[in-house]
Amino acid sequence: MQIGPYQLKNQLIVAPMAGVTDQPFRNLCVRYGAAMAVSEMLSSNPDVWDTDKSRQRMSHAGENGIRSVQIAGADPELMANAAVVNVQQGAQIIDINMGCPAKKVNKKLAGSALLQNPVQVKAILQAVVAAVDVPVTLKIRTGWAPEHRNGVHIAQIAEDCGIASLAVHGRTRQCMYKGDAEYDTIKAIKQNISIPVIANGDIVTPEKARYVLDHTGVDALMIGRGAQGRPWIFREIQHYLDTGNKLAPVEMDEKRLVMLEHLKNLYELYGEYKGIRFARKHVGWYLDQEEQRPFRAEFNRLETVEKQCSMVERYFDEIAQN
Ligand SMILES: Cc1cc2nc3c(=O)[nH]c(=O)nc-3n(C[C@H](O)[C@H](O)[C@H](O)COP(=O)(O)O)c2cc1C
Repeated sequence: MQIGPYQLKNQLIVAPMAGVTDQPFRNLCVRYGAAMAVSEMLSSNPDVWDTDKSRQRMSHAGENGIRSVQIAGADPELMANAAVVNVQQGAQIIDINMGCPAKKVNKKLAGSALLQNPVQVKAILQAVVAAVDVPVTLKIRTGWAPEHRNGVHIAQIAEDCGIASLAVHGRTRQCMYKGDAEYDTIKAIKQNISIPVIANGDIVTPEKARYVLDHTGVDALMIGRGAQGRPWIFREIQHYLDTGNKLAPVEMDEKRLVMLEHLKNLYELYGEYKGIRFARKHVGWYLDQEEQRPFRAEFNRLETVEKQCSMVERYFDEIAQN
């Protein structure tokens, strides 16, 4: 699949997830075979850029893959300005968020709330596309409510405005994350536009990836929660797509190395206090089985980098001895 000048090496993309797809996580997923990882969303409101959170999200030093930066907002001028600033900071692709149902984002009528207002959608897309020379991509939901699945209409607007590719989460805004993602609307979108379409939502196994590709005919897949604590899912899915066979589960030695490296990168990026808190979240995903609950409870009480790392080491040492 091609986005502007960028030829993706396969059909697997990491979904933007605020608080999850920071640079350490994006780099890991790209190393495990994802063709591209979209950054966490950045508000288009410049008043909030002078915070650690925004500064960290805007920095691309050490990024392994294509730098796709997502922006969120409702004002065409602010969005265009945010796009320009992020391109100056190194973004190679600007992604526009019209998929997020979060109240914080929707209060300002941004994210998926915009789907109710196609005129505003068009104004934002035109302004951003005109403002930057890099490809502009868009992420939407299928509509704003099950009885208002206007994804095809929005997709046509996107194509007319010069959007380079369109990612579609197979739920409406009203669905939040409830129920199952549906792929019929995504299939209809794919059939109605000629820019690349990326299917998203509930793709958590290699078999599901195969099914969604076949059912919708899309150009690529976007994977979010399925990669939390499992960055190797991209290797597993790609192998299955290539061969029809499933890889053996990831070895414990490999999981140990990845977790420790991931923790180290979190401490480096966020410093000890915040790094420890982010580490709890990711370790909770890596070791999410019921029998690992006592481990998680104890790990979440640890307050130093050394204690966190040695607890993970001990956990894998014990497994290796048994
Ligand atoms: C914790 C979290 C944060 C998210 N943040 C964003 C975001 O910043 N921008 C966005 O477009 N979507 C965001 N999403 C939505 C995901 O990109 C994706 O559309 C959704 O999770 C469905 O895909 P999945 O089933 O593969 O997770 C977020 C989802 C989660 C779970």
